[in-house]
Amino acid sequence: MLTSTNRNDLQKIVVLNPKGGCGKTTLATNIASYFAIKGSSPALLDCDPQGYSMRWIERRHRSLAAVHGICAHKKTMQAVPSWHLRVPQETSRLIIDTPAAIENPDLFDLTYDASNIIIPVMPSAIDIRYAARFIAELLLVTRIDRRNRQLGVVATRTRKNTKSLIQLMRFLTSLQIPLIASIRDSQNFVYAAGNGIGIYEMPMHKVRDDIQQFAPIVSWLEAWRPPLPSLSPLPPRRAPEPFLDKPLH
Ligand SMILES: Nc1ncnc2c1ncn2[C@@H]1O[C@H](COP(=O)(O)OP(=O)(O)OP(=O)(O)O)[C@@H](O)[C@H]1O
Ligand SMILES: [Mg+2]
Repeated sequence: MLTSTNRNDLQKIVVLNPKGGCGKTTLATNIASYFAIKGSSPALLDCDPQGYSMRWIERRHRSLAAVHGICAHKKTMQAVPSWHLRVPQETSRLIIDTPAAIENPDLFDLTYDASNIIIPVMPSAIDIRYAARFIAELLLVTRIDRRNRQLGVVATRTRKNTKSLIQLMRFLTSLQIPLIASIRDSQNFVYAAGNGIGIYEMPMHKVRDDIQQFAPIVSWLEAWRPPLPSLSPLPPRRAPEPFLDKPLH
């Protein structure tokens, strides 16, 4: 599952957390819809055999700003190993929706040249413990440098000021990882998912609060600049041997 496109000017945004149901597809599709509206011709790469991102694209009405879909889970990868050649030239943002229970070699391939990595975390005690373990693993397995703010967490389906949210914020501060945004539980996301749209494509009076919460995510992503040639990503190093005794999920 090598996801390099060898294009320096392509922003590669990976939405990642092996915990199922934490909001990866919801974030990926809403980010894609936002950049579609902004005219970035985004592509959405679906690495999940469940194919929810691809289904979201299929539901998208033709009159809406286009999101180019690329199906890249393992089964299709065997049939089309050169999927990365299918990232259209005009695409400037590639959003990658990843599956739950991802394994170490895939984790490495997905992240080694990522421009941004977003980790959605639901602020429950169990999810935070899980995220802590996963982030520790990610920092070991990949070449991510926390100091360049490439990696950020989004709290999903939150309620205000719960003990768990405060716990999550403390944990991230200790790791110097930014909490980019906190997204409340809202039926607008469920409606958008079912209709192939994002919250930015819904009537403003319905989604004002959600957009306000989502805005720091897109601002963080828009702050990305292509690396200078001398700072281009190094060629991939060999993925370390898996060290998890059992898969995370
Ligand atoms: N902020 C939110 N408010 C309400 N519902 C949400 C929110 N975020 C996600 N959901 C819902 O939670 C469910 C799981 O979300 P989603 O599919 O985005 O998670 P996922 O991490 O992609 O799951 P998987 O690991 O199975 O791929 C979906 O039904 C989605 O509509
Ligand atoms: Mg998903």
